[in-house]
Amino acid sequence: MKVSIIGAGNVGATCAQVLAYQQIADEVVLLDINEGYAEGKAMDIMQSANAIGFDTVVKGSTNDYKQTENSDVVVVTSGIPRKPGMTREELISTNVKIVETVIKSTLEHSPNAVLIIVTNPLDTITYAALKLSNLPKNRVIGMGNLLDSSRFKYFLSKKSNLPISELDAIVIGGHGDTTMIPLPNYSKYKGLPIQDFLTQQEIDEVVSETMVGGATLTKLLGTSAWYAPGASAAYMVDAILHDKKKLIPCAVLLEGEYDTNDVVVGVPCVIGKNGWEKIIELDLTDAEKEKFKSSVDAIREVNAQIPF
Ligand code: LAC
Repeated sequence: MKVSIIGAGNVGATCAQVLAYQQIADEVVLLDINEGYAEGKAMDIMQSANAIGFDTVVKGSTNDYKQTENSDVVVVTSGIPRKPGMTREELISTNVKIVETVIKSTLEHSPNAVLIIVTNPLDTITYAALKLSNLPKNRVIGMGNLLDSSRFKYFLSKKSNLPISELDAIVIGGHGDTTMIPLPNYSKYKGLPIQDFLTQQEIDEVVSETMVGGATLTKLLGTSAWYAPGASAAYMVDAILHDKKKLIPCAVLLEGEYDTNDVVVGVPCVIGKNGWEKIIELDLTDAEKEKFKSSVDAIREVNAQIPF
């Protein structure tokens, strides 16, 4: 079971680290355009094998796609991250060009891989990757909503003092500060409605904190976050490699689902060895449907900037 990660920055390297520490893959190849960078990160991770105890082999390479040959899953993290004050959408022109090159080189060596896209602006880059790759739609998946859902759970747990491991929560829509849609009606504590534990005002506060969760970290760190993004990508790799049929909110191409066509946006999907295998259509309130529609409209506006 081989995974390649394109881009050995903070998110890519954290993803490799989690894949190794949890022995999710047999082999992980980290690739980066900066000379020696991926090799260094891979070597550093491998030198933690003694302390942690894992057999996964992590290799690094400076832009030699031959090393990524026959990967089962390829995680694309390449591109520039946002700086404080920037939106994810402002990264479009730079990142779409980077991803174009990456997709072509990746598919030459791993034509059967499932692609997980992490590069921002997530929904638009995933849409561009799908068009550029000509792959079946189930093999190109954007990682954004799982991260947003993790943040939602974190803020719910902080507010309610309930343990994260006992909470269910889901965020759909775009992976943007104004486009994501946390769904309190689907937030549960062991199956019990979250409304039994938090007031409406507290829930509203949690929703707001979730929506700017990435921006808050970008401000604190001076660049965008990596531990939760890297771990979330690794979680999706695990679901694919081990055919776990996990229900994960992901950015995928809609063709009629949620009354939406020809746009990549986040919805709950069953994830297994074929990539996304099924889209689950949630019962949304009229207000939630309206938010979903606005989210889709905003993503379409960014998609219009794709230069091909
Ligand atoms: C974030 C970036 C990775 O949400 O989009 O932290």
